Amino acid sequence: MDNTIHTIQSMMNIQELKNTAQRLMADGKGLLAMDESLSTCNKRFEALGIPQTEENRRKYRELIVTTPNLELGISGAILFEETIHQETEAGISFLSILQEKGIIPGIKVDQGTVDLAGFLGEKITEGLDGLRNRLAGYYQMGLRFAKWRAVISISAENPTIAGIKANAFTLARYAALCQEAGIVPMVEPEVLMDGDHTLERCAEVTEQVLKEVFNELYEQKVVLEGMILKPNMVLPGISCALQPDVETIAEATVNCFLKVVPAAVGGIAFLSGGQAAELASERLNVMHLRFGPVMPWALTFSFSRAIQQPALEMWKGDDLNVAAAQKLLYHRVECNSAAREGKYTHDMENVDLG
Ligand code: 13P
Repeated sequence: MDNTIHTIQSMMNIQELKNTAQRLMADGKGLLAMDESLSTCNKRFEALGIPQTEENRRKYRELIVTTPNLELGISGAILFEETIHQETEAGISFLSILQEKGIIPGIKVDQGTVDLAGFLGEKITEGLDGLRNRLAGYYQMGLRFAKWRAVISISAENPTIAGIKANAFTLARYAALCQEAGIVPMVEPEVLMDGDHTLERCAEVTEQVLKEVFNELYEQKVVLEGMILKPNMVLPGISCALQPDVETIAEATVNCFLKVVPAAVGGIAFLSGGQAAELASERLNVMHLRFGPVMPWALTFSFSRAIQQPALEMWKGDDLNVAAAQKLLYHRVECNSAAREGKYTHDMENVDLG
């Protein structure tokens, strides 16, 4: 291809990526992660006694995408491979339902984690083989952003430098392939909450991981304005005896990002990671209240459990519970979109949703 044409095309491509990232980070909105893999979705169904069938997964995802007013607080929804081919009972594809609401559909493109060879207790995420072709197909279907999750756990021995580097390299390879295809990559290096480590240890590991991730993204020529970081909040391990208050967590999280996340990044959208739904909203809210003016990036949510869990528990696989479950889902969307503006209050939790 002529070099000038090639340059113009890549500039158009970069502009499209930036536009998509900006739309995903629109004021007052966040993302809805509904991309649980088959095994994760089935595990959540099993815990509530919901039969683990394809039809039940389809029904549940129909409940989510048809939630009234979802688009008021949701800019983009991350789907799983199975879901992008599914339709409502009435035969309308989930993708068109979302597009009609103005919600950008995205897709989880990683294929899960496996043990990292040679390193006990560490994981590496798979899914790079054949990714270029898969991404081209997803773009054709109208998907405009993607997600890849790397998992880092904290213990006395882990994470190792090798484990962090391997995951950072893989995240950057994925991100570069997405951008080539016109798809905005969400780069998700999740430092897990499992364990009894302190807030300080989580801050140290999260900082180290993000430094490596941004080094790799830079080296592999990923356009930061055309990607979104999906990080964990800086939190103590779930079994740590000392659980600091919301202010301390907000401060630790924002300070960590101020050190290592370049201002150019298209946005930051948190995973919830197993935090209680109300706490996740409260923490996001305090970050905006306290640090709104000093944060150079848009900061929002990209929650799965912290949005869906109350609705899933209400639904329990029963058609009669769909409307009540949708109310609960929308309520969490409202709370989180208020938190994204620093306008969330405890009173919002005291409404009667019955
Ligand atoms: P949680 O919000 O439940 O952590 O899920 C977010 C996500 O997308 C994990 O990959």
